[in-house]
Amino acid sequence: MSQRVVVIAHRGASGYAPEHTLVSYFTAIAQGADYIEPDLVMTRDGVLVARHENEIGGTTDVAGRGEFAGRRTTKIIDGVSITGWFTEDFLLEELKTLRARERIPQLRPANTRLDGRLEIPTLEEILALVRGVEEQRRVRARELGLPAPEPIGVYPETKHPSHFTGLGLPMEERLVQTLERHGYRGADGRAFLQSFETGNLQVLSRLTQLPLVQLIEAAGAPYDLVQSGDPRTYADLLTPRGLEGIADYAACIGPAKSLVIPRDGEGRLGKPTSLVADCHAAGLEVHPWTFRAEKEFLPAGVDLEGELRAFLAVGIDGFFTDQPDVGVRARDAFTIGSAERIAK
Ligand code: G3P
Ligand code: CA
Repeated sequence: MSQRVVVIAHRGASGYAPEHTLVSYFTAIAQGADYIEPDLVMTRDGVLVARHENEIGGTTDVAGRGEFAGRRTTKIIDGVSITGWFTEDFLLEELKTLRARERIPQLRPANTRLDGRLEIPTLEEILALVRGVEEQRRVRARELGLPAPEPIGVYPETKHPSHFTGLGLPMEERLVQTLERHGYRGADGRAFLQSFETGNLQVLSRLTQLPLVQLIEAAGAPYDLVQSGDPRTYADLLTPRGLEGIADYAACIGPAKSLVIPRDGEGRLGKPTSLVADCHAAGLEVHPWTFRAEKEFLPAGVDLEGELRAFLAVGIDGFFTDQPDVGVRARDAFTIGSAERIAK
């Protein structure tokens, strides 16, 4: 599928701008990411918008908006009680009056310069941004007599699909239809679709040829399996039999990075597991998450490039990063080093 290790801009270039905003995605594209990653939730009127959760108190100014005070409520989302404001209780035109805020201002104070200035984008707007940048690049390449530029990939994730189906707002057909309208179709359609649940990926596999990604947490179980009383956990999905099952509907797994290289007792990178080799044997690619430059997220003793070097050496096929510029640099250095080693 992928000819080289792909750099996936996690929530856009979320190390440099509030996550899931057009500025964040645009920055990621400018930094050379192969894919931009929108997490998707639904509005009350059935529009796919980009937020990491359906609860938007932490990433927008909704808490300070008196007209929406009455929408604050408590819900059980995927078995967890959460209090706040939920996208499914807002019409798109209401959500559009909100403005994004940096999720972790204590770690990313520079990103707060954009607080209060950026809208919650719809999937349509994100795809229009991609199309617009691609068109600009094509025109520029033609003017300069250069080869046609690489297309920009998208890597959407359906968030809480069982929850939204339960509300009568299923996401799958809407997602596929929107992507197809923008030309994303087929196994090399420059889009991957991902989910932490299993059932909706199986539904998607019947709706589209686009490659699917089974996300895997370091612990616990997919919520749709929990809900249906299926005892299988994420760990069960990673056994040889589990991987064979995933390969029936997906092209790739997206594991927590600790499943590829765990950390030792001192927080340093430890010995790699056999996960990458096991997945490759089952015909699955491996795109771990999430690589972040801030020291709070890094293993002891390395910077982000050093961490990525260790994971690239294990044979991963792609990775999610909040700092796509660093990711591209590390990936390119690895590619050059590999070529030089082979040539010698
Ligand atoms: O989608 C995989 C990666 O993004 C990790 O998950 O929680 O950041 O959406 P999350
Ligand atoms: Ca995601």
